[in-house]
Amino acid sequence: MKFPIKLNRLYWGKVLTHIFPSSVDPRVLCSGKIDAVSFTSAVSVLKFGTTLKTTNKKRFTQTIQELANLKFQGLPVVLDVGASDGSASIDVIRNIEFNKYYLTDLNIEIFYNISGGATYFYDEKGVNILMVSDKWVVYFDADGAIFPFNKILNLIKRRIPKLVGGNKKIVLINPELQALVSSKVAICKYNMFEAWNHEKVDLIVAGNILNQCYFSDFEILNVLKNLISALKENGRIVIVDNRPHEKSSIFKFVKGVVKLEKRINGGTDIESLVLNNDTWE
Ligand SMILES: C[S@@+](CC[C@H](N)C(=O)[O-])C[C@H]1O[C@@H](n2cnc3c(N)ncnc32)[C@H](O)[C@@H]1O
Repeated sequence: MKFPIKLNRLYWGKVLTHIFPSSVDPRVLCSGKIDAVSFTSAVSVLKFGTTLKTTNKKRFTQTIQELANLKFQGLPVVLDVGASDGSASIDVIRNIEFNKYYLTDLNIEIFYNISGGATYFYDEKGVNILMVSDKWVVYFDADGAIFPFNKILNLIKRRIPKLVGGNKKIVLINPELQALVSSKVAICKYNMFEAWNHEKVDLIVAGNILNQCYFSDFEILNVLKNLISALKENGRIVIVDNRPHEKSSIFKFVKGVVKLEKRINGGTDIESLVLNNDTWE
């Protein structure tokens, strides 16, 4: 990350936060009492490894319209991969009919610890990913950091308190989505680099996750292999990019071959990766 140290927008005035890299204060997540919109904007600040949890409602409305028009043999089973806090997924859930909706993400919870006036956020393995104070939001992501951020980061890193038992946990699922959980909507942790070991699905939604800024082509192909193996015959996978505008492609899996069914606003950037593989079986 080029600028791993950002101004905390709660403290600094609008002029400075427009000029310099700045961030929403994600500590609102720790309060427990938070509305759905503030929850999403706080979760969107978090970064795990190479991927941000950025999401939003009404992110891919045209794609959802196309999905609502697709014909399936019965009501589809849906797998939503890398759904973040589920805000974008709420629109899918509300606009398409389904038999079962698996809303999944690799990073579903985070831990925090308050020490010396700063709040430290850790992933489930205890790796510190973020430090937030009244003035600063600091990412512990030195990859590509420019001088002097790289040096300052090294100094701060030496003082990070370790994650110890008793730290508080935050579930990174939007309260609005949590209210929709039922026998038809399940939330589960799923790493797309591994095989999907639940039932086969009719539709996979991969929104803003199969991104060449996050992963190499080799990694994306590995993920595609796992996802396509999770599809039933005639199943669909939709890949959406919002960078910055909505573009997506809907693919259909027929007799071991993936075919393009619909392209929206020019299609996903990785269309050729999906189509250049002759057989996915
Ligand atoms: C940019 S967000 C996309 C959120 C949502 N799909 C949307 O379009 O608004 C990417 C999400 O992918 C998740 N993610 C990263 N690596 C993953 C992996 N290996 N398996 C599953 N999810 C992953 C991140 O935790 C993050 O929540």
